[in-house]
Amino acid sequence: MEKFIINGGTPLNGEVTISGAKNAALAIIPASILCRDVCRIENLPVSISDVNYMMKALRHIGAEVKFINESTIEVDSRHVSSYVISHDMTRYLRASYYFIGALLGRFGRARVAMPGGCYLGPRPIDQHIKGFELLGAKISVEDNAIVEANSGGLFGAPIYLDVVSVGATVNIMLAACRAEGQTIIENAAKEPHIVDLANFLNSMGADIRGAGTDTIKIRGVENLHGCTYSIIPDQIEAGTFMVAAAATGGDVLIKNVIPKHLESISTKLIECGAEVEEYDEAVKVSMKGRPGRCNIKTMPHPGFPTDMQPQFAVLLALAEGTSIVSESIWSNRFRYTEQLARMGANITVDGQIAMIHGVESLKGAPVRADDLRAGAAMIIAGLAASGTTEIEDILYIDRGYEHVVEKFSNIGGDIRRVTCKDPDSEIESAG
Ligand code: EPU
Repeated sequence: MEKFIINGGTPLNGEVTISGAKNAALAIIPASILCRDVCRIENLPVSISDVNYMMKALRHIGAEVKFINESTIEVDSRHVSSYVISHDMTRYLRASYYFIGALLGRFGRARVAMPGGCYLGPRPIDQHIKGFELLGAKISVEDNAIVEANSGGLFGAPIYLDVVSVGATVNIMLAACRAEGQTIIENAAKEPHIVDLANFLNSMGADIRGAGTDTIKIRGVENLHGCTYSIIPDQIEAGTFMVAAAATGGDVLIKNVIPKHLESISTKLIECGAEVEEYDEAVKVSMKGRPGRCNIKTMPHPGFPTDMQPQFAVLLALAEGTSIVSESIWSNRFRYTEQLARMGANITVDGQIAMIHGVESLKGAPVRADDLRAGAAMIIAGLAASGTTEIEDILYIDRGYEHVVEKFSNIGGDIRRVTCKDPDSEIESAG
């Protein structure tokens, strides 16, 4: 078992470089099997465990994955022969279901075990299934455990999403780019990773227009080819460092970002009293004195991202005054507030609304990472608090943050990863 030990209370200072976007990578990796060719994927966050699971799934169906350097791989999908992905490959992450769309596009059929992933409330896939069916696939879900998709050919169709869903938009794009004729996705998700996936697919020869708006038009093509593509920087990793800089009263230059993707986060930080300077591919965040309060409502892009809600709540827990946080995407994304309460935060939760009464300081305590972003929030809280914080269940954090200990240490955070032989034994340092 591994833990993070953090000695907090020091403002973060210096420069940090952001990795490639996890959620773009998780869509682009399965997309690479849509061609019978070689794709070179650059700026890939290869060290995070979600990306590793996706590469494992690629190999499982017969693709060759070659490491070129620490952020580049080549996927050779000429010999992909299987359309089956078993439970072992899917149980740990949500995005494994992108293989349904990708395999449907490649073979016209797919048999993929239901996905796992962070528990944030119920995570239905009805919009994915509706999309595949409208493209002409027959879908059955066996024992709520395996999705079987079969088609005698996919045909473009108009598809209106009843809810704005990142996953359904991705999955439909993957299948539709090899369908006959035009697919129009209405009420599509507009997140930066949707645009990145469209750019990747277009580099492979697909014909996709409108990604980044709520209407995406996909004209199916017969063949796709290999390409070289560099993934966009991770919006949420960047936002996490921005909030960490502000919450610790620090001054950090965050490099390799697209400032436009960070606007909703920058705006809220400024509202709380932080200074945010934008450069071409960097942002600098500094905070002097105690943060001010503000209200947050999570919304699909370009609204405030739900994946930044727990991290921002840490800043608000330290703010002067009371802030209201409304979560409108996930029904169960406030579990982390119980952990923050152990550190002295004063938060009351009623359904999907949290009232955060700011306190002057947080105190280190033993806490756990309930999920990926909750874990990131615990790191920020530990760095801002006085004393020592121990974070358990850090495997969630490793799913989405590359070199997290090194990156925070380099800007002055006192954070270590330690390994315990078993819960009762002495803690050993793992470096
Ligand atoms: N929904 C449905 N039916 C569907 C699909 C979604 O009702 O068929 C609902 C969901 O229950 C939710 C809402 O629609 O209430 C939005 O879900 P969405 O499909 O957009 O989420 P997702 O694709 O499962 C991705 C990210 C999440 C992020 C959400 C929202 C990936 C791999 N995951 O999930 O990221 O929170 O979009 O932006 O891209 C994370 O990185 O920590 C993370 C959880």
